[in-house]
Amino acid sequence: MAKQPATIYVCQHCGRQERKWSGRCADCGEFNSFVEEKFRPTPQAKGTTTSSIFRHTSPLKFSEIESQEESRTSSGIDEFDRVLGGGIVPGSLVLIGGSPGIGKSTLVIQTANELNKQGFKVLYVSGEESEKQIKMRGERLGIEAENLFLLPETSLENILAETEKMKPDIVILDSIQTVFSEKIESAAGSVSQVREVAGQFMLFAKSTHTPVFLIGHVTKEGSIAGPKALEHIVDTVLYFEGDRHHNHRIIRATKNRFGAANEIGVFEMTSFGLKPVGNPSEVFLQERPEGASGSVVTVCMEGTRPMLVEIQALVSGSKFGNARRMAQGFDYNRLSLLIAVLEKRVGFQLAGDDVFLNIAGGLEVDEPAADLGVICSIASNFRNVPIPPDVAVFGEVGLTGEVRGVLQAQARAREAQTLGFKKLIIPTTNKTGLEKLLGTRVVGVKTIAEALDELF
Ligand code: TYD
Ligand code: MG
Repeated sequence: MAKQPATIYVCQHCGRQERKWSGRCADCGEFNSFVEEKFRPTPQAKGTTTSSIFRHTSPLKFSEIESQEESRTSSGIDEFDRVLGGGIVPGSLVLIGGSPGIGKSTLVIQTANELNKQGFKVLYVSGEESEKQIKMRGERLGIEAENLFLLPETSLENILAETEKMKPDIVILDSIQTVFSEKIESAAGSVSQVREVAGQFMLFAKSTHTPVFLIGHVTKEGSIAGPKALEHIVDTVLYFEGDRHHNHRIIRATKNRFGAANEIGVFEMTSFGLKPVGNPSEVFLQERPEGASGSVVTVCMEGTRPMLVEIQALVSGSKFGNARRMAQGFDYNRLSLLIAVLEKRVGFQLAGDDVFLNIAGGLEVDEPAADLGVICSIASNFRNVPIPPDVAVFGEVGLTGEVRGVLQAQARAREAQTLGFKKLIIPTTNKTGLEKLLGTRVVGVKTIAEALDELF
């Protein structure tokens, strides 16, 4: 048998193991992410997590397994319930990831407060802030929870012992990267440690039917293990999106064993904490310029929810001969492709122009349904003709300049109608069933030339 090494190198981003240090991870492509850790031959040893969380060892008949009515608990915050798939499931392990300072702790303490109002006992374990700091933040948020218990602790064994004693209804762990198990010799925050901690909490959640929220930081450097290394262990993975320059925060479910993935919840960060945004379309269209060329509204689907977003384009003569293309919130290659389609199929001369594209409000759009919006906004700015403010467009654009149908056209059209749009330009194939949309005229188009004729 080959001799086992005393130490191995583990990628802190994805968990890949190497015998030698490597500058770049062959699995995830991350640079400088390998950290030396003690080699552990069999993780089963000494009662670490891989011991089974399920009691049965022999096969069971599907028909004989008791079905379990899912009794979800509302978190008291509707946008949060929505991303969770309709509320908190008993015994679920939920990972909340996001960059430092984006609002993870704020969200969980607000949730803890709401749960408390419903009479649940919540244990908030913090390895990052002292109880005084949490209290201060809580007071600023107007929290007076009777049954909220704070535990500033970083030892996994102590946390589990306290949890066993207290028997809380919900456990929050802020953050998983600060907690360490004494059974493992690598530093807190390393891949082996975070996996062990997550595994132990999985065991705890499943055996006691207590929901557990784990908070995980996402960092650029590979110095601490990211939530990516845990995604396969937990039931639900939620990520915070948004940046420092905007007040809104989006929470996206990238994995959910109890609901639809890709569902989003929209919040606004205010001085009183996170405020749910019931109708995101209104927020993202708030600052839309009037009568400016190059701006158009399109309808995107985020999970099961349609959302209106503004696309802006700026076409200006290139000073240096080689024209530049730049996209913010939209795929750069897709933009180049759509510009090529405009040139070839409708005869636009854009070779000597810089083209800049921006999705307003710092949003990211990665659906083909936004293609027609991109085409229309570029055409509008190129011709210097504004698109009327009560027009919305959507549709996928193919290489021959054809406009193709998109998914969930009904839901998109209704969202635009609700927000008072008077005219919709959509793919002809999507028009069936939408002829009688009250107060909104729906125009079906087959090609981008038809769409541009309709607009200008
Ligand atoms: P926090 O929840 O501590 O972030 P994380 O736990 O993800 O690291 O949020 C910190 C930021 O949020 C901080 O920059 C201040 C801001 N904030 C507000 O704007 N309003 C508030 O009411 C609170 C509590 C925080
Ligand atoms: Mg925090």
